[in-house]
Amino acid sequence: MNGTVKDDILPWRAPQPLMLAPMQGLTNRALRTLITEIGRPDVLFTEFVRVRPGSRKPIADRDVREMAARHPVPLVVQLIGRDAEALAAAARKAQDLGVQHINLNLGCPFGRMTGRSAGGALLRHPAALPEILSRLRQAVHGSFSVKIRAGYDDPRQIFSLLPILETAGIDFLIIHPRTVRQRFDGRADHTITRELVAATHLPVIANGDIHTAEEGWRVLDQTGAAGLMLGRGAIADPLLFARIRKEAPPHPSPHERLVELQRYLGALLPRYQEIFCGEQQVLGKMKAVVSQINDPLLAHRHKPLRRAKSITTFIQALASLTAP
Ligand SMILES: Cc1cc2nc3c(=O)[nH]c(=O)nc-3n(C[C@H](O)[C@H](O)[C@H](O)COP(=O)(O)O)c2cc1C
Repeated sequence: MNGTVKDDILPWRAPQPLMLAPMQGLTNRALRTLITEIGRPDVLFTEFVRVRPGSRKPIADRDVREMAARHPVPLVVQLIGRDAEALAAAARKAQDLGVQHINLNLGCPFGRMTGRSAGGALLRHPAALPEILSRLRQAVHGSFSVKIRAGYDDPRQIFSLLPILETAGIDFLIIHPRTVRQRFDGRADHTITRELVAATHLPVIANGDIHTAEEGWRVLDQTGAAGLMLGRGAIADPLLFARIRKEAPPHPSPHERLVELQRYLGALLPRYQEIFCGEQQVLGKMKAVVSQINDPLLAHRHKPLRRAKSITTFIQALASLTAP
């Protein structure tokens, strides 16, 4: 163990912070801003920022714009890569842009997106981890955290990785208790989260399969986690943060949900038209959000949104969401 956590460095003050998960292709600055206005998460994360050693631009311009975005709540920049020096340089660059909180992705199961040996693949070859973590820790002046799966193919691997994480001096960790091999199959096993909370002095943030206020309360209650991170559930329902905090009704009626969705998607569309180019890209990005809304009671209602071929038909489908 590496002493006590420096509380003043953490990106939250709330007793049980609720965080918006990093989601590639989704949690861009426009969606983060809107979700903050609607549900007020305590902490936001960027989509993962790929760090490639030796390329002319180690961080793409698009990612620089994302890092430089300003929000009324703390923003954590998530890096993904496998080269310790390049990751440390990227962390320094992010801090030059005003970022205070850096997270390392140790979970992404899709090698083709990450250059095959970064993200979750690092759990397959954990010998590289101490060097990567120590270079990042030296480079990061604010909070440094990791977001990690329970293991590569063994859901108990996290317990053998824990001393490495603690010795490296990370400030908190986010656990998505599935293995990398599992991808998104099965269920997140929060009994692992509970054991992890008991095994470490580090604040543990629980992530995975929280779609309702009840599920959020249950995970907090049963695991003792320091807070929650919400991904797909928050994209589908940005009020989920407020519902868990008991500031919005936990059980909206189907009609109330449709009204909320109409407002949410109606507010997102013009913002996407501002930051994305071309009708098909905007439409694709809108549908990526719609595809996270899996409530079976509403499915027949948003099918037309998924099928829209133009912005005009998307707007028409949006208008008829609440029609009798
Ligand atoms: C479309 C999509 C994109 C994702 N992108 C990232 C990412 O960039 N970084 C990351 O750490 N996890 C990423 N994840 C994983 C989520 O952050 C989260 O760990 C996972 O979805 C489980 O939480 P949930 O059940 O609340 O969605 C992504 C997941 C999905 C479905």
